Amino acid sequence: METSEIKETTIQVCHGPVCRDFGAPQLAKKFAEKGLNVVVGGCQSQCGYAPCVHVDDNMINEATAEKIDARLEDIALQNSGL
Ligand code: FES
Repeated sequence: METSEIKETTIQVCHGPVCRDFGAPQLAKKFAEKGLNVVVGGCQSQCGYAPCVHVDDNMINEATAEKIDARLEDIALQNSGL
């Protein structure tokens, strides 16, 4: 996947207290270092599913780098028209 294909995608990473404890800051840093548009979000009232990440309008519960990468791949495929 080309990073440029998904540069416009916003990855909002909850930095509420529970998500922070479940590694949200590390996830945010990882994707920011790839040059992606990462923003810090507040608690989404979904703390039982921490860490919570929104990729554009889609929420990823119990987010992992792999889950986020998979969503980014889906977006890249949708944008390519395949
Ligand atoms: S702390 Fe992240 S959803 Fe509440």
